[in-house]
Amino acid sequence: MPEIALNLSRGCGNPTGFANLQPGDVVVDFGCGGGIDVSLAAHKVGSQGRIIGIDGAPQMIERAKQTVADAGLQDRNIEFRTAYLDKTQLPNDLADVVISNCVINLCPDKDAVYEEAFRILRPSGRIAISDIIFTESIAPELKERYQSTWAGCLGGAIPEEDYWQTVKQAGFDEFQIVARQTLTSEELEAMACCPGEEFAPPPSEEDRLLVEGKVTSVKFTAVKPSLG
Ligand SMILES: C[S@@+](CC[C@H](N)C(=O)[O-])C[C@H]1O[C@@H](n2cnc3c(N)ncnc32)[C@H](O)[C@@H]1O
Repeated sequence: MPEIALNLSRGCGNPTGFANLQPGDVVVDFGCGGGIDVSLAAHKVGSQGRIIGIDGAPQMIERAKQTVADAGLQDRNIEFRTAYLDKTQLPNDLADVVISNCVINLCPDKDAVYEEAFRILRPSGRIAISDIIFTESIAPELKERYQSTWAGCLGGAIPEEDYWQTVKQAGFDEFQIVARQTLTSEELEAMACCPGEEFAPPPSEEDRLLVEGKVTSVKFTAVKPSLG
């Protein structure tokens, strides 16, 4: 993996490790960042496959293109688009798999993002997602303090129950949790300051202790039902 991808990697899992990608699959990466999962997916889907990396930040798209070039994957069917995840502009029923790694927690309208994933997947297509959730509800004023640094991956996280409701309401079924892990205090601090302290200053010790044990990194899959 090229150094640029490793340095810019800000994931909380490895969706290509549990997405069961097959040669020839069309894969869309929601929030591709520096392109680490696009490159990993490219190895799995091979030269017959197609990968579309989407990110709202054009600067990240530029870096993801660099990753693909540095990885020697420029002859693969890989495209990038600058777009918000609730409006990808991709056609209906395009993808076999939508992957996403630590991004949807950052999106204010998670319903719209999951509806968009559902729309662009073909029937029987699936999602493979790593994300951050709260396992217990937290006080509104504490949530507000974390939201003041939304870039950190805790500001936009929502309670687990609401998260699963969002996924199911979009229409997905065959929902399966692949792995889950409560963040350690070091991981919590890193997550709260993602992508770096200059962008998202660390929470106070008191605020960090108030969420300790309540933040989980979760990996899951779900399927868009087939027609009929
Ligand atoms: C925590 S980083 C994860 C990047 C990458 N998936 C990885 O594992 O390294 C979040 C990425 O999501 C992008 N992002 C956040 N909100 C977005 C949105 N609403 N629409 C599109 N991209 C978004 C950011 O620009 C950033 O590149």
